[in-house]
Amino acid sequence: MSKLALITGASSGIGMAFAERLAADGYDLIAVGRRRDRLEELAASLPAVTVQPLAADLSTDDGVDTVAGLCASEPLTMLVNNAGVAHYMPIAELPADKARELVHVKVVAPTMLTRAAVPGMLSRGEGAIINVAGMIAFSGPAPASLMPRRAVYAGTLAHTVAMSQTLHAELEGTGVRVQVVCPGVVATEFHERQGLDLSAVPRMSADDVVTAALRGLELGEVVCARRQRRQPPTARVRRRPRRVRAQSPDLAQRYRSG
Ligand SMILES: NC(=O)c1ccc[n+]([C@@H]2O[C@H](COP(=O)([O-])OP(=O)(O)OC[C@H]3O[C@@H](n4cnc5c(N)ncnc54)[C@H](OP(=O)(O)O)[C@@H]3O)[C@@H](O)[C@H]2O)c1
Repeated sequence: MSKLALITGASSGIGMAFAERLAADGYDLIAVGRRRDRLEELAASLPAVTVQPLAADLSTDDGVDTVAGLCASEPLTMLVNNAGVAHYMPIAELPADKARELVHVKVVAPTMLTRAAVPGMLSRGEGAIINVAGMIAFSGPAPASLMPRRAVYAGTLAHTVAMSQTLHAELEGTGVRVQVVCPGVVATEFHERQGLDLSAVPRMSADDVVTAALRGLELGEVVCARRQRRQPPTARVRRRPRRVRAQSPDLAQRYRSG
């Protein structure tokens, strides 16, 4: 049976790695981002499956409505809410348009796309929603010296974690799975695009993030983070605040086979 995934932020980094992996697994794709040329290049590089490039700006209501319309009308097997911007800045200096963009892309868009996709998945009795957050979601208890000045970004990721966990509970037993992926630092264009050079920091590859997410989904993990212990990550950060920055870039052992 054919499988169809819609991926936001498929024009680079983690989203592109999802697109390539899911295509290799036989998924047809709807690839969303603003850079149409990149999406068309991606489609041309994956001739074995059907890839629909969709240029849409998820910081606008029109862009979100267009993509949400497809989430409602297409028989999605998987929705990957991955698009994101960071705008690391103290809130007093964060321009209003950047704050709005951040909340729109990281909160409004995944909420509205998920809301649009779930009824169809429920009626088909199957589907998966993967939301990409990050370890910074749990950074609240860390001192400013370790995790400075990114309250709005951290807040959007925390929303993603809470929404994913509660949605997982809401959809339990329906055949629709929900996962939130929480990587540490990943080697993509993400920091570069805001003028930050993190090349000296140990970084995970986007490919490994995707391997962890898809294997974690098979394992039934709702929160896909490198360390899985009984304590929630926030409690661990409170106890050992350096943990939130000192994430190993290696793929955890439990994701290596299967
Ligand atoms: N890199 C890290 O260290 C890291 C760590 C933890 C979590 N994350 C999360 O991972 C996700 C993917 O980031 P990445 O690391 O792969 O960075 P990236 O290479 O910069 O990719 C970001 C993607 O989001 C898309 N995007 C941004 N604004 C958009 C908008 N207004 N409308 C539509 N698409 C938009 C970009 O496409 P266009 O520019 O073509 O629109 C791009 O495809 C983000 O949500 C981020 O929060 C990243």
